[in-house]
Amino acid sequence: MYRPIKIKEDLYYLGVNDRTKALFENLWPLPKGVSYNSYLICDEKTALMDTVDVCYSDLFLHKLDIALNGKKLDYVIINHMEPDHSGSLGLLRSRFPEVQIVGNKRTLDMVSGFYGLNDGVIEIKDKQVLSLGKHQLEFHLTPMVHWPETMMTYETTEKIIFSGDAFGTFGTLDGGITDAQLHPDRYYDEMIRYYSNIVGKFGTPVQAALKKLSALEIKCICSTHGPVWTMEDQIQKVVSIYDKLSKYEGDEGVVIAYGSMYGHTEQMAETIAYQLAQRGIREVILHNTSKRSHSYIIRDIFKYKGLIVGSPTYNNKLYPEVEALISKIEGRDMKNRYFSYFGSFTWAGNAIKHIQELAHKGKFEVVGEPVEMKQAMTDQIYDQCIALGDAMADRLIQDRE
Ligand code: FEO
Repeated sequence: MYRPIKIKEDLYYLGVNDRTKALFENLWPLPKGVSYNSYLICDEKTALMDTVDVCYSDLFLHKLDIALNGKKLDYVIINHMEPDHSGSLGLLRSRFPEVQIVGNKRTLDMVSGFYGLNDGVIEIKDKQVLSLGKHQLEFHLTPMVHWPETMMTYETTEKIIFSGDAFGTFGTLDGGITDAQLHPDRYYDEMIRYYSNIVGKFGTPVQAALKKLSALEIKCICSTHGPVWTMEDQIQKVVSIYDKLSKYEGDEGVVIAYGSMYGHTEQMAETIAYQLAQRGIREVILHNTSKRSHSYIIRDIFKYKGLIVGSPTYNNKLYPEVEALISKIEGRDMKNRYFSYFGSFTWAGNAIKHIQELAHKGKFEVVGEPVEMKQAMTDQIYDQCIALGDAMADRLIQDRE
């Protein structure tokens, strides 16, 4: 039988690991799985923080029973309604008919819409406090981190923030739950991928949430995915990662994302990459948009300042995988990138024109002259690709000064 996992005095971890699902949101690969975290505070009153994906309800409710150890469940606090966290709410209410569902106005509208639950709910407002006894819960509305109803719950005695998706990561928790019990470095790239894929569009709301959090003393971050952050240096690090990502700030480096059917457009990408390396740009990442999941390409676009996109012309339009990637870039309101582009065609050029539309939306600084190749590499096209690599390198090097 499971034993309760205690993180701190009165605080239990009730999360589950999903090593089965292939795609998060049916879109984003989960090679290392994902955890759905839920927590229980046992005080004079008991409060559950979020639930888990419905696929794991049985195990989750079993863990909850054990942690409660015969106590009544008084409250379930809903920080985020996306079904990876709220999915077990209906079953929870069936098992604990008297539990009060606590959320803001938008949350309760979704609780009604998704689960048909309208009774036994408590609507809270920003900064409202709910007392459990020793522990006080203060609610901070943080809309659009990641849905409009999202909020964070601050436990004022131990200074714990229950942050919802914020500061979460892909990747299961294999043994260790807190950062002190595992190697946090294993999770940072998966934190960036989670942020860029799931929350990436909402940089401004994330900045607003960070501003709110800056007024709080935080000794522990309990996110809904990935490790519990308890170490001072790790808390500083995850907050600074979020700050940087939500400002769309990148490191020195270039992502070259291209489509290529028979390798000709790829030769252009290789030539540009070669010149970047010649000029001392050490982080150059080529992504074949047909082969590499866009989840990872988006992650790298969030990591690096330089972005170069290349596409063949296909049915008089962009190559479909490049078009799909551009849609994902636009969907994340991506900005603050140095942007270059190139394309190819066999009998009628059109790819360049379509990439230009992205370039001219004003979110990116266009660097160098775009290169358009007819059919195959020539000396002239090679030199133009070298010049494009030079222009991007010049722009990045300028920032070092
Ligand atoms: Fe982990 Fe927005 O759900």
